Amino acid sequence: MLLMYLKYQKKMKYINNIFTVEKSRLTKVIEKFETPIFCYSEKKINENISNFKRSFKSFSPIICFSTKSNCNLEILKLIKRSGLGADVVSKGELMIALKAGINSKKIVFSGVGKTRSELIYAIDKNILLINCESKSEILEIESIAKSKNKKVNIGIRLNPNTDAKTIKQISTGKKENKFGVSEKTFIEVSKYIKNSKFLNLKCLSVHIGSQILDHKPYQKMLNVIDKLIKKINFNFEYIDLGGGMGIDYNKDNKKFNYKKYNQIIKKFLKKHKSKIVFEPGRSIIGDTAILISKIIYIKENSKKDFIIMDAAMNDFMRPALYGAKHKIIPLKKTNKMTKKSYDFVGPICETTDKFLTTNKFQKLNEKDYIIICDVGAYGSSLSSNYNIRPKPAEILIKGSKISVIKKRQKLKEII
Ligand code: LLP
Repeated sequence: MLLMYLKYQKKMKYINNIFTVEKSRLTKVIEKFETPIFCYSEKKINENISNFKRSFKSFSPIICFSTKSNCNLEILKLIKRSGLGADVVSKGELMIALKAGINSKKIVFSGVGKTRSELIYAIDKNILLINCESKSEILEIESIAKSKNKKVNIGIRLNPNTDAKTIKQISTGKKENKFGVSEKTFIEVSKYIKNSKFLNLKCLSVHIGSQILDHKPYQKMLNVIDKLIKKINFNFEYIDLGGGMGIDYNKDNKKFNYKKYNQIIKKFLKKHKSKIVFEPGRSIIGDTAILISKIIYIKENSKKDFIIMDAAMNDFMRPALYGAKHKIIPLKKTNKMTKKSYDFVGPICETTDKFLTTNKFQKLNEKDYIIICDVGAYGSSLSSNYNIRPKPAEILIKGSKISVIKKRQKLKEII
């Protein structure tokens, strides 16, 4: 397992047995900062954005970073500097995207339950698109637009009834999921919008799920869209394909095939003259961060040892919430291995407060530091104050420069 990590990532690797992000050895980080702490690589973020753009450069899509995957203001500013827009799902996310300097004409608003006040705010900010997910939402927007005597640009989110073949809890495109509208409703509401004085139908949007590693569900989704567009005979200015492209958490080279996805979209665009919008989150930010944690105690058991860390499920929820597996590696590498099974757990009073079980690992001691990998997406954004634990600090590394991009919460702020 350790060997695999020698080639973990070019921007993050062991140098002289110490895990190093860009040019910063993490021993320097733990001398200066308390753990747990999220630690991002700026170069890796920029590299992921460039790769994403390059993958689809033939049709230069509008790329709206999915703010829910990471809503750190400094990260959003960095993303903005690369020219990306934002996909938001609440007034709070819309406010932080604007605060990061993202142009409102590059912001799309999704979500099944946008309230009237959220819609008013979005309409006042003249964002690119509000992607609607029900008949009632469309009527609500129309009534606001009428009261302001304004014509509002909207999209309709289709539920394409397509299986994304990913973790059940993060699938969104099947008819039993709450997202989008059925084909039948789509046809009905699109007719209604075309006759509305206050609504402008601009977009068909979809998002079938997250951490998708196979391009075939996207092919199916595009087939459904293709048929529907032919049926209603309408040219959408935008087709918003959502996000969902998965990353290689297991480091077993199961990578999403961008080349194939690009090809199938190009084929689709030969028939439909629309601008493609993407809403990627994980593929931009997922593998750009790690969570450093200190071992508080090791509780020995005849069968396995519990490695009790200072990071817990409130800091990083994915394993507890979805059974997601994130690699764990030592901050300082030695060659003393143990065959004993380790359960990496946090201090929270829940059995699901567990990150990983390993069968072979470097022999660990109390006060050692370990690293949880690939926590950039749905890491800090999903963290909570459960058990009244302050949220961790976040730092951004650029070469040998380390900047604090979020301070560790103080207990007095939450009590
Ligand atoms: N667009 C919409 C409408 C979405 O609902 C999502 C994610 C995205 C874009 C971005 O998807 P991505 O490119 O990041 O896959 N907390 C879960 C993931 C939930 C995803 C929710 N929607 C996790 O930690 O795996």
